[in-house]
Amino acid sequence: MFGVGDPNARLCFLGEAPGADEDRLGEPFVGRAGQLLTKMIEACTLSRGEVYILNVLKCRPPGNRNPTPHEAGACRGFLERQLELIDPEYVCCLGAVAAHNFLGVETPIGRLRGQVHHHAGRKVVCTYHPAYLLRNPSAKKPAWDDLKLLMREMGVEL
Ligand code: URA
Repeated sequence: MFGVGDPNARLCFLGEAPGADEDRLGEPFVGRAGQLLTKMIEACTLSRGEVYILNVLKCRPPGNRNPTPHEAGACRGFLERQLELIDPEYVCCLGAVAAHNFLGVETPIGRLRGQVHHHAGRKVVCTYHPAYLLRNPSAKKPAWDDLKLLMREMGVEL
């Protein structure tokens, strides 16, 4: 699965890998976590059509397990070329898998979030994955703080 949104977007949301719903429908973030991501984007006064949504992995790992380094490596060229073409100013990494793959670090997501990173010429904000937020609603407040930081950086008034 490729990605969805505005190919000229200033902001890309980077997830982990398609889940079962995404695999069936051929679009990233369309299941329960995806519905929450849509709400998060709308809370930023944006729409799914104004941003670009893509994943580290282009295929669903069996049983929804975390991607192996070999799988992430196999998809890296596609991700890099997508970002080269879209050329977003901002990337929002959703969850540890996205953040670790994109930034090339292993720092826990709780320490990566809450700040603006500069990586490969882009500004990067990391936050919790919406699937994690569904399981841990108390993390919604810090995730919203991360999105507010990102919107402030982008000059989007909330
Ligand atoms: N979770 C992800 O990380 N990506 C999707 O596309 C769907 C769920």
